[in-house]
Amino acid sequence: MCGIFGYVGAQDEAPQLVLAGLKKLEYRGYDSWGIAAREAGLAPSRLLVEKHVGKIGQATTSLPSSHAALGHTRWATHGGVTQANAHPHLDCQGRLAVIHNGIVENHAELRRELLARGHTFASQTDTEVICHLLEEELTGDSPSDGDEPCERLAQAVMGVFRRLDGLSAIGVLDPQLECMAAAKNGSPLVLGWGEEGNFLASDSSALLDHTRKLTFLEDGQAALLTASQLMVYDVATGEKLNEPRVWDITWEQEVDSLDGYPHYMAKEIAEQPVVLRKLAQEQADAAQRLADSIMSASTVHLVGCGSAAHAARCGEYLFSRIASRQANCVVGSEFGYLEDFLDQRSLVVGLSQSGETIDLLDSMKSAKHRGARLSALVNVEGSSLYRLVDDPILLSAGPERCVLATKSFTAKLGVLLMAAYAARGRLEAGKALLEQAADEIQSILTDNRVEQIRALAQRVAAAEHLYIIGRGPSYPMALEAALKIKEVSYLHAEGFAGGELKHGVIALIDEGTPCIVLAPNDETFRAILSGAEEIKARGGYIIGISPFASDVWDEHIAVADVGEAASIVNAVPPQVLAYEVALARGLDPDKPRNLAKSVTVK
Ligand code: G6P
Repeated sequence: MCGIFGYVGAQDEAPQLVLAGLKKLEYRGYDSWGIAAREAGLAPSRLLVEKHVGKIGQATTSLPSSHAALGHTRWATHGGVTQANAHPHLDCQGRLAVIHNGIVENHAELRRELLARGHTFASQTDTEVICHLLEEELTGDSPSDGDEPCERLAQAVMGVFRRLDGLSAIGVLDPQLECMAAAKNGSPLVLGWGEEGNFLASDSSALLDHTRKLTFLEDGQAALLTASQLMVYDVATGEKLNEPRVWDITWEQEVDSLDGYPHYMAKEIAEQPVVLRKLAQEQADAAQRLADSIMSASTVHLVGCGSAAHAARCGEYLFSRIASRQANCVVGSEFGYLEDFLDQRSLVVGLSQSGETIDLLDSMKSAKHRGARLSALVNVEGSSLYRLVDDPILLSAGPERCVLATKSFTAKLGVLLMAAYAARGRLEAGKALLEQAADEIQSILTDNRVEQIRALAQRVAAAEHLYIIGRGPSYPMALEAALKIKEVSYLHAEGFAGGELKHGVIALIDEGTPCIVLAPNDETFRAILSGAEEIKARGGYIIGISPFASDVWDEHIAVADVGEAASIVNAVPPQVLAYEVALARGLDPDKPRNLAKSVTVK
């Protein structure tokens, strides 16, 4: 949540570089955005700031040429969505600019102290305390004082950072200096080693246009960026680290264009067949490795948040059915309360597109402290999760820009499916099924089924509620379908285990209430059909996603029978429906309200 991008170097278009970087990071938050730049050519230089409420979209910047700029795109936590609360924030003198991702948990007491000492606040954010604390740290300093002034800024930033509780990443621009400083704990920060200057960003994907040489700051580290140097410090001691690790990132350059698609969501849904075939071809060995780890562990825990939690739950069913192996699914934010029994023989598998979801990272870290072995299915190379675990498995789905998880979701299912078969010594069968699923998804997306779903979306868009039911592995798919529909279209949608409906939920069914029924060719078919009949008898409008025709369907989205890969195929029609309902309701599918793609706050 919240995107950070900074540049200091020889190029004089720093504000434009930062603006372009923020556009790439907008999925981290789009409530407001802002940039601070160092006025070029003047000594002492002034701070130039612009801030705007709303999405960055096609915005341009009015800031003049500069060699150093720092920007932020905000997902609001403390303080409403206003220009005053947009970052950067300044100290009382307007001397320095601060941007922040995370939460300063002790901000209320710090604010009280600062007010008592005469500071004035311009915003309701937790971030602003950092500006005033820095102002105090640097009071009396002039650029010619004592230590090298940039080093002094870094030390001041670390001094302040040590006083902050909670998980945060901050960046600080002092226009009197040709450098900027940063520090992080919890929230991600990546340094980019450029040819003509150096970069700072919250995600590596925003840096790959400029450089592939990256340093991922670890928790408790700070950095100083000058045009020619990048230095990393230990916040606790204030000492400079020798030779920070530099990664040479190999993953494919982000394909930034929409490639003719109207939205990233449409593009990413369409990419799924390619992603799944690539996984079958390139990640089968990794799936075998995961299977071996799972089979040799005493207990197995699949952990994720949001869509990743639904993939984890589906994995629980796949491992039980295909490999006769228990693998617990736990939601990332809850796992920390359920892991007292972990030991060295336990395996914890984190599932995450971004590799930065804080609820997941926190519970994985505490599992590590208990000695558990860690693995991950993760899409972003070099992300915090990727670096934390013993055996990261890349989903290789390519960058996912839409806030909603689509291709990263089915990619996780693809690896889990192959791993479940591999655990039984049948990796080839798993690969073949995954390829079949990819072929069927390609057909769904290119034949008249998209038209069918588009027409259905008109009806669904007018509804007040939508329910989705499934049994067995289709139960987590019902949860995921409901999540997709509600997060992008704001239509109230709920997924249920088919058997649970009659225990209360059926009271919600009214004349014409649309209800999606996931009915693959497995042992759940007859029972889920009975559930569909019960809903229909109460006026429900039944949309069946199934290889089989039935009189109970009011609308039948026919899908091929792909055996245990049914969940992967059945994920797609609800994705398309969600997208089409959003369009029918006049909404932007790529940036639903209140959401962010990478959730780095608790
Ligand atoms: C956010 C996104 C979801 C995503 C979840 C977990 O809530 O809006 O689409 O499923 O985070 O993200 P991760 O990057 O860990 O898969």
